[in-house]
Formats: sequence, structure tokens, C-alpha cells
Amino acid sequence: MAGVTNRVFRGICKAWGADVLTSEFVSAEGIFHRNKRTEEYLDFAEAERPFGIQLFGGDAGHLASGAKLVMDWKAPDFIDLNFGCPVNKVVSKFGGSAVLRDLRLLEKIARAVVDAVAPAPVTAKIRIGWDAGSVNAIESAKILEQVGVQRVAVHGRTKDQGYGGEADWGVIGAVAEAVGIPVVGNGDIAGAEDALLRLKETRVAGLMVGRAAMNRPWVFGQIRAAMGGEEVPGEPSLAERWEGIFEHCRREIEWRGDENFAMRSMRARLMAYSRGMPSGRHLRDELGKVVSLSALREIAGRHVAGSEV
Ligand SMILES: Cc1cc2nc3c(=O)[nH]c(=O)nc-3n(C[C@H](O)[C@H](O)[C@H](O)COP(=O)(O)O)c2cc1C
Repeated sequence: MAGVTNRVFRGICKAWGADVLTSEFVSAEGIFHRNKRTEEYLDFAEAERPFGIQLFGGDAGHLASGAKLVMDWKAPDFIDLNFGCPVNKVVSKFGGSAVLRDLRLLEKIARAVVDAVAPAPVTAKIRIGWDAGSVNAIESAKILEQVGVQRVAVHGRTKDQGYGGEADWGVIGAVAEAVGIPVVGNGDIAGAEDALLRLKETRVAGLMVGRAAMNRPWVFGQIRAAMGGEEVPGEPSLAERWEGIFEHCRREIEWRGDENFAMRSMRARLMAYSRGMPSGRHLRDELGKVVSLSALREIAGRHVAGSEV
């Protein structure tokens, strides 16, 4: 997830039980121009494997050469293609979900990237279509399969839906029936119950968790336990949640090597973590200004004490 799933956050998800990790989406143009920020997006630890780098763009040639460069340079376990991003800045340049409106372009991009990085595997992420009148996930997935993409993740919303409404697991299930490659289902998995239900209802080979991880990264452990038939661990206490947040900050500071910068870049993460915590609004005002780990500990100390009264 863009702006969220950097190396530090992914490490936390992995420790909680996530199996397969992917970078946030990286612009093929950024790689082409050796953009400085792109290096940060491509950074991953060996312990994250199996790890994929996700690329987006609307130009098949640039995507193919970007994918080849990334493969030679970083050697991820797979390249993932983003055909799902709904953001205007991306779609207006024919990237992300815009490709779902032009299946000839989808085929051209996927084929070019598969050929460029062979024998390394290429996977793809799609939405179910552009809008309610043009749901074409089965067709898209069949094209991807035909050109050699080895796994497809389907987010059960159209581009038009953005992140609103509900994911359509009926369409995800239909895609899983229609193609021979593994299909990963994505959309609104917030816990073990959702996971078990979707695995029972559909023939997906795996599940992808997005937003729930931003707020409750331990969700991976809960899902894992449920899938293994074990007792599902409960939600951590407020004090335990704060310990996890401190640890995230500590690792972010270590990675970035600059506490002030790291803590500023953590603010959006802190907002996400604080969702659902008691007295959330007041807390969020304070988190929005935090510049050091000691200041955060002080805020948390007051918060936990206040919540116990
Ligand atoms: C802030 C944010 C950034 C995202 N960035 C990406 C991205 O870079 N690549 C991608 O494939 N999906 C991205 N997504 C979409 C999620 O991967 C996922 O498909 C979507 O949130 C639906 O799953 P969920 O209901 O579990 O959140 C992003 C979502 C959010 C909220």
C-alpha cells in the first residue's frame, strides 16, 4: 500500500504471520529515470522473501525495461503488476485501473513484462472492472493467464467504487472458477471470521489483507490461527497495542537514521493505529504533532492511564 507498506511495516506484518509481501506500487517511469525516492520503495530485507516488487505504468516498453532493471538490480522473487490503482494521477497516464478499460493494452503490458523477466514469475493485481457497467475481471484474468502471468489478485471493487461500498466476492469467486492459475481474493478481510467465510465460499488460493493491517497488523496471526484450525488469539490490550506502536517507531527510526524525520513520517501510521482507541479525537490531535519517541511514550502513558480511570 502506497505510503504505508515500507520495509519496516512489512517486517511487522511478516512477524505477525503474513506469508507473501509486496512493495507498494512503484512507477515504471520512476525506475526509468532513476528517481531517488524509487530506491526507497524498492528497499526490502532478505527476511521478507518471498517478496514481490509491484510496478505500474501505461507504457508496455517502459514497464518491461523497468521490470528487467529491477530484477537485475534487486532480485525480488516476483514482479507484480498493478492494474487496480484508482487514483487520478495514475489513471490519467493510462496506468493502474485505466488498463482494465483497454484489454489489448493489458495483454501487451503483461506479455512484455513476462517476456522481459522470464523465467522469474510475474503476478498481477486487478479490480473487478472500471465501473458497474463494465465488470470484466474474468476476461482480464483469462488474458493474464494466457500470456503467462502466474497468479492474479482480485480486489472485488470497480475503479469507480474507489474504497467505498463492499467488495463483490461473487465476482472474485467466479474468477477463481474461470482460470487455472491461483487467484488471491482481496477486499474487506478484517479478521479471522471474514477469512474463513471467503475461503469456504470461494475457491481462492489465498487472501490479501489491505487496510485492516494498517490498524491491526496482528490480524495476520488471527487469520493464520483460524486457517490452521487453532484458537484465534484475541485483540491485544491497549497497553500491548502501544508497545507494538513503540516498536514500529523504534524500527522506523533505525531504518531512517533520523528520529525527527522518522516520527514525522510515522504520523499517518499513528493515526491509523489510533482508530478505534478510546478518546480517539483528542489523541489524534496530539499524534499529529509528535516529533520524538519520548514524546509519544509520554502521550501513550497519559492515554493508557486516562483509559483505566
Ligand atoms: C493507502 C492505500 C494505499 C494503497 N496502495 C496500493 C498499492 O500501492 N498497490 C496495490 O496493489 N494496492 C494498493 N491499495 C489497495 C489495497 O491493496 C487493497 O486492494 C484495498 O485496500 C482493498 O483491500 P482491503 O479491503 O483489505 O483494504 C492501497 C490501499 C490504500 C488504502
